[in-house]
Amino acid sequence: MKTKIAILGAAGRMGRKLVELAAGTDLEVVAKVDVADGFDRDWPEGVEGVVDFSHHTAVPKAIGKAAAQGIAYVIGTTGLTAEEQAHVDAAAKKIPVVQSGNYSLGVNLLMELVRKAASVLGPEYDIEITEMHHRHKKDAPSGTALMLAKSANEGRAEIGAAAQGFVYGRSGETGERPAGEIAVHALRGGAVVGDHTVMFAGDLERVELTHRAQDRAAFAAGALKALAWARGRAPGIYTMRDVLALA
Ligand SMILES: NC(=O)c1ccc[n+]([C@@H]2O[C@H](COP(=O)([O-])OP(=O)(O)OC[C@H]3O[C@@H](n4cnc5c(N)ncnc54)[C@H](O)[C@@H]3O)[C@@H](O)[C@H]2O)c1
Repeated sequence: MKTKIAILGAAGRMGRKLVELAAGTDLEVVAKVDVADGFDRDWPEGVEGVVDFSHHTAVPKAIGKAAAQGIAYVIGTTGLTAEEQAHVDAAAKKIPVVQSGNYSLGVNLLMELVRKAASVLGPEYDIEITEMHHRHKKDAPSGTALMLAKSANEGRAEIGAAAQGFVYGRSGETGERPAGEIAVHALRGGAVVGDHTVMFAGDLERVELTHRAQDRAAFAAGALKALAWARGRAPGIYTMRDVLALA
């Protein structure tokens, strides 16, 4: 028997890809939820898991309902406010939640490489992160860029370097670059699915680690895999590191 799932944001770029890919798995999409015309407004009784790639404002109500029903929730939606994130954290006390700013295998590997590079190169190498996405993307910087910045901090922490807050873009009289700073820059344009580069700039050399997503299927496949993995797990917040056993 196929597992009955709901897709939130089903009319969107990611939602359409998820519906398409689920057709070839043992997941059955019984609710295509979206505010767009012709889509379901909610999911029916009997749904066993939810994959959410909608809009951050939609998350609190939907995850609250999933928590009340005791079903697994995979959240790909990014740009959550602290208050919206608190709803996710509260739901994760009752249900398994997988939350990742990027569900692709390649980016999750990249996070491991960034952690390693940051610990080997140390804070003497300045870290600059650039991301580029299509012109329709509604939030900046990308959730993935923030995850990469966090990985860099974790790598530095392994060698005892202090964690840094992040700087988003620069303009005006910025003064010299403070030691240890991690800066994130968002580019928007065209149809770019998602590019991320983490640069480690030293006095004598630069290391650049880049990932380019070529098709949204890279994220959709990972998110469906995450839902299959999460079903039946203990309540908590999991990441793709857990799903892919990279932790
Ligand atoms: N984690 C990842 O791997 C990953 C990858 C790609 C995109 N994303 C994120 O996923 C989200 C969606 O991206 P997209 O490119 O598909 O955007 P999109 O704008 O194409 O699609 C979003 C859909 O959500 C719908 N929506 C808005 N409010 C809703 C509500 N209250 N209830 C139900 N549906 C609602 C919209 O009508 C739209 O169809 C964004 O937050 C994006 O950053 C995450």
